[in-house]
Amino acid sequence: MSNNLPSYLDISKDINSNLSDAIETMHPDKIAILVDENTKKYCLPHLHLSVDAQIEIQSGEQHKTLDTCSHIWKQLTAIGCTRKSLLINLGGGVIGDMGGFAASTYKRGMPFINIPTTLLSQVDASVGGKLGIDFEGFKNHIGVFQDPVRVIVNSEFLASLPERELKSGFAEIIKHALIRSEEQWEYLNGHSFEEMDWNEIIPKSIAIKNEVVEADPREGGIRKILNYGHTVGHALESHFLDSNTPLLHGEAIAWGMILENDIAVEADILEKRARDEINSFIRSNYELPHNLPNYESLNDHLLQDKKNDALGIRFSLLKKIGACAHDVLVEEALLKKILK
Ligand SMILES: NC(=O)c1ccc[n+]([C@@H]2O[C@H](COP(=O)([O-])OP(=O)(O)OC[C@H]3O[C@@H](n4cnc5c(N)ncnc54)[C@H](O)[C@@H]3O)[C@@H](O)[C@H]2O)c1
Ligand SMILES: [Zn+2]
Repeated sequence: MSNNLPSYLDISKDINSNLSDAIETMHPDKIAILVDENTKKYCLPHLHLSVDAQIEIQSGEQHKTLDTCSHIWKQLTAIGCTRKSLLINLGGGVIGDMGGFAASTYKRGMPFINIPTTLLSQVDASVGGKLGIDFEGFKNHIGVFQDPVRVIVNSEFLASLPERELKSGFAEIIKHALIRSEEQWEYLNGHSFEEMDWNEIIPKSIAIKNEVVEADPREGGIRKILNYGHTVGHALESHFLDSNTPLLHGEAIAWGMILENDIAVEADILEKRARDEINSFIRSNYELPHNLPNYESLNDHLLQDKKNDALGIRFSLLKKIGACAHDVLVEEALLKKILK
């Protein structure tokens, strides 16, 4: 399974040797590196690299904006970057998505390398070519599909990551296992969070995402199984965004998976036994958020989902461990019963 990695992705044991190999092949005329205050402090010291510019932005989803892009484009312009220059994005999904977008649109496209430094960005954002920024309150509203020249994944960066961020990324690892690999699920379910061997799990998780993306690059069909847990998850995420205790993406997805499994059982798609096994594993790893929203508020957010059509809300639901259905229409009465 882990052989099935994208050709542009290195599972790295030595970040500096991978990076210098990549740079040697490219011969860039200028090199800029994009960091935020955390990756500057914790990740940049790992790199032995001389650059023409270090572009620093503030961390956080609220800075994944056109204004920040402007700042990046100005700095690239100031040092005279051309289409033969290189931007290295060192950070989590925000830096990867936004730095990649800024590079892809600068002079109609300058090459970039992503070095994902959060678990979430290593197993999820590292593959699939989706780049972009938020706009007017809409997530990833402006963007392009473009693969980086290289993605270098090195688990050593995770040592400085707060446990809550680590758990957030872990939710996508759980998701990948459940939709596609019973074998990976057996491993996860058989170990405590503290025992997880990231070097074992991460390449497998990336390979699962890559298989799905390669089968359906533009999300016409099968790629939608990656949205498992995300229909209810996004609704929870939006709800808590309005409150003063926002959930991390993966935390929302963890609870999204639990509730969507209940929906799948109720809709006779998933067996109770599998649901119980999965849900108790997730519950043991994630604390239930306080002040869960009522059905009406959750339903308001569900109705906003991009995947809906005139007939109603469409879900990606598990059929069993390792297999997922997509475009499942769920009746409102059933939804109400579960989400109440
Ligand atoms: N392109 C895709 O396919 C894709 C997939 C999933 C998510 N995303 C995007 O990714 C973003 C979320 O990514 P994320 O969860 O990585 O969040 P993030 O980029 O905001 O990083 C989380 C926090 O961790 C800090 N950080 C990063 N690396 C660190 C390290 N090694 N040590 C200590 N602190 C570190 C960051 O500064 C930030 O404060 C969202 O914008 C989402 O839309 C994109
Ligand atoms: Zn996700």
